[in-house]
Amino acid sequence: MKTLTVYVKDQPYPIYIGEGLLEQLPALLREYQIETDRKLMIVTDSNLAPLYGEKLKNRLVRAGYATGFAIMEAGEKSKNLHVFEQLVGECLRFGLDRQSIILALGGGVVGDMAGFLAASYMRGIPFIQLPTTLLAHDSSVGGKVAVNHPLGKNYIGAFHQPLMVVFDVRCLKTLPLRQWRSGMAEVIKHGFIWDESFAKWLDDHRNELFAVDSEAAVEAIYRGCEIKAAVVAQDERETGIRAILNYGHTIGHALEAVSRYQVYTHGEAVSIGMAGAARLSAKVLGTGLDVVHYTEQLLEAFELPVASTRSWSVPAMLDAMKRDKKVKQDKYVFVLAKALGEVKIVSDIPETEIRDVLGELVPN
Ligand SMILES: NC(=O)c1ccc[n+]([C@@H]2O[C@H](COP(=O)([O-])OP(=O)(O)OC[C@H]3O[C@@H](n4cnc5c(N)ncnc54)[C@H](O)[C@@H]3O)[C@@H](O)[C@H]2O)c1
Ligand SMILES: [Zn+2]
Repeated sequence: MKTLTVYVKDQPYPIYIGEGLLEQLPALLREYQIETDRKLMIVTDSNLAPLYGEKLKNRLVRAGYATGFAIMEAGEKSKNLHVFEQLVGECLRFGLDRQSIILALGGGVVGDMAGFLAASYMRGIPFIQLPTTLLAHDSSVGGKVAVNHPLGKNYIGAFHQPLMVVFDVRCLKTLPLRQWRSGMAEVIKHGFIWDESFAKWLDDHRNELFAVDSEAAVEAIYRGCEIKAAVVAQDERETGIRAILNYGHTIGHALEAVSRYQVYTHGEAVSIGMAGAARLSAKVLGTGLDVVHYTEQLLEAFELPVASTRSWSVPAMLDAMKRDKKVKQDKYVFVLAKALGEVKIVSDIPETEIRDVLGELVPN
């Protein structure tokens, strides 16, 4: 098991990463002085309930905790206020009070929903993240929690830091391959924005990572969380440097929007977005073409896309970027690569440069 601490203002919290940690959860709770007089509520989704949720509930009950169990339908479409209200009802019926703790067992969808539930139920109660997807190494650090509105993703949310994050890498064995690759895009992103040697390490350990070898998975998640935590600790509320975590996301979000979230997973869209950001960096900052080539090579090695095979309207993508608040006075804000492992925020990119890059990424 590896442990790291996230230094946020209210209360620093630990992230535990290791094999079989869900089995050790009662012991971890006791170690953290969470006594059995506090009620727990597991929030999970319909895929994870039979795989891990029921066993976890039984284990916690055996350990003496009164434990409720709320299941949401799996998938992004459940991350809305209607499902939120149903979950509030479950918490009320189970008698959760301000001392109770919500356990978010799942990927980013459950983490965002259960985290937002914890942030708002009775004006805020504690929660623990139990991530089950590789992508959730990203979403479980940083305290951003949210649900979607019909007009856009994550428009209703809060900052609410968990008590702790307990990442049992054994769960990753059942994760569908496409979801695994998608999560890898965010892991690779952490290398691209912060640490060239981590990107190279991922490259070197590709086979172990594809085999979901526990040791390699623990290391990749540990480094990914560590980088995200380092950025978040400097800028908890995203007033400055935290925005570098959006590397690849400006184009990525635009692709997700024009395809109505039906074509790409988040990681696939971000992968194409990072390939685009690298190209834009070469045009705008004069970054070496070796960075562009290495970016594409590493993403492709993890079977991630670096361009779209489907055609989308470039003006529609630019409109989506405008809605995504990435534009100030007609100049676009992008996170660009100066080198491998080093990025900066550039806020005055003319539309023509972006148009060119989008034209290269999507066939017309
Ligand atoms: N809060 C943040 O900082 C942040 C950051 C990045 C992404 N997000 C959010 O995360 C969400 C995406 O998260 P995700 O990619 O983890 O998606 P997800 O939670 O929908 O999980 C993907 C699918 O895999 C299934 N699944 C999860 N774990 C499994 C396992 N171990 N075995 C088998 N199946 C499993 C789920 O049931 C689901 O069908 C988006 O809503 C995004 O907005 C939030
Ligand atoms: Zn992302």
